[in-house]
Amino acid sequence: MAYKSVKGTKDLLPQDTLAWLHVEQVIREVMELYRYAEIRTPMFEETAVFSRGIGEETDVVGKEMYTFIDKGGSSLTLRPEMTASVIRSFIQHSMGEQSSLNKLYYIGPMFRQERPQAGRFRQFHQFGFECIGQQGPECDAEIIAIAADIYARLGISYSLKLNSVGDPQCRPLYREALQKFLLGVYDALSPESQRRTETNPMRVLDSKDERDREATADAPVIIDYLSDEARRHFERTCGLLDDLGIPYVLDPRLVRGLDYYTMTAFEFISTDLGSQDALGGGGRYDGLVEQLGGKHTPAVGFAAGIERLLMVMEKNEYAFPASAPRVYLVGMDDASRAWAFRTAISLRRQGISTEIDYAGRSLKAQMREANKLACPYVAIVGESEMAASQAQVKEMRKGTQESVEFARLAEYFVQDTAQ
Ligand code: HAM
Repeated sequence: MAYKSVKGTKDLLPQDTLAWLHVEQVIREVMELYRYAEIRTPMFEETAVFSRGIGEETDVVGKEMYTFIDKGGSSLTLRPEMTASVIRSFIQHSMGEQSSLNKLYYIGPMFRQERPQAGRFRQFHQFGFECIGQQGPECDAEIIAIAADIYARLGISYSLKLNSVGDPQCRPLYREALQKFLLGVYDALSPESQRRTETNPMRVLDSKDERDREATADAPVIIDYLSDEARRHFERTCGLLDDLGIPYVLDPRLVRGLDYYTMTAFEFISTDLGSQDALGGGGRYDGLVEQLGGKHTPAVGFAAGIERLLMVMEKNEYAFPASAPRVYLVGMDDASRAWAFRTAISLRRQGISTEIDYAGRSLKAQMREANKLACPYVAIVGESEMAASQAQVKEMRKGTQESVEFARLAEYFVQDTAQ
């Protein structure tokens, strides 16, 4: 029996990893500009980090986590997202005591047992960044600006949805008003939303079910219930985005699927993605550090799916950088093949990427291979070249050829004539 990768997971083959590395490099460049430092946390945590952090009533915790009991009897969970892990680590290492602002980013695999479909996987990858320690709307606007910059560099167009989900002062009032409204239309709601009316009424607004959409068309919206502080914060965030020229659409129904959000919530949507159209999302989560046992610390962050981003880039026929060796060394007999092997290793040690034949192929077959690899130089060595300690070097694009002494080869290949 031939084994296959598990449903909802996939192999990244060499032709894929080139594109991934490029995307990761662009992310790292932008993070460096905004002065975010990388954090790498373990792939699994104690289950409570996520169930307490993300919220028992969310789909992620309720239905999608890969949770298992290890041999020591501990309940562990493969991380479904990174924000809770980052905050666990922030508290554990007292980062808040060392600095009043911690700007952290990450890139890595996440795990959710969702029904696989286009753009939705069980092991997927996110990049994300968290700005921990400050309350000011500059942090919210900057987080959005970073995401916008990364998408712009990768040639991805998007629409940005923005909302405020309020703070602990106004949320209970809104929740009560919404619950009252939902009880009034209870019979028209889907069974899932009927249940949520009790447990997590704000998530009813987020339902994709047509019945719920119709029944809640006139539901009260949180924007009308914001406390003065939450309203001021929201207006200032919007003002900063206006100043930066970042367009957004106010969406009073945007609540997001994780429970830790307070005030700013946002999502980047792509029309190139089909039904799983969320490129990325985030928001402020001023209560999470406390929720996980730390001191009250405001924070805001964002995370995005890398697979979805690549789907859009491929659709746009983005010009990913190609990879080619600088030079292909062709040997024709035993002595020149041995030379090619030795010289390849020496050139690589001098920083020149070099390819050779390992299969004893003919001159013609080696030239064909060099052409296929699109390397700028081919150096051909046979009996007479060995005797003269010179290689015939072909500049593939120009079609020119000249003799180059073995001792000068490295110097010759680093020059920039073969562009
Ligand atoms: P999230 O909205 O759950 O937020 O996920 C962020 C992004 O991850 C989604 O917009 C989507 O692009 C991608 N994603 C999620 N699930 C899947 C999946 N099954 N397959 C493929 N891609 C997926 C968070 O995770 C929060 N931690 C974001 C955040 C950071 N909030 C504050 N800081």
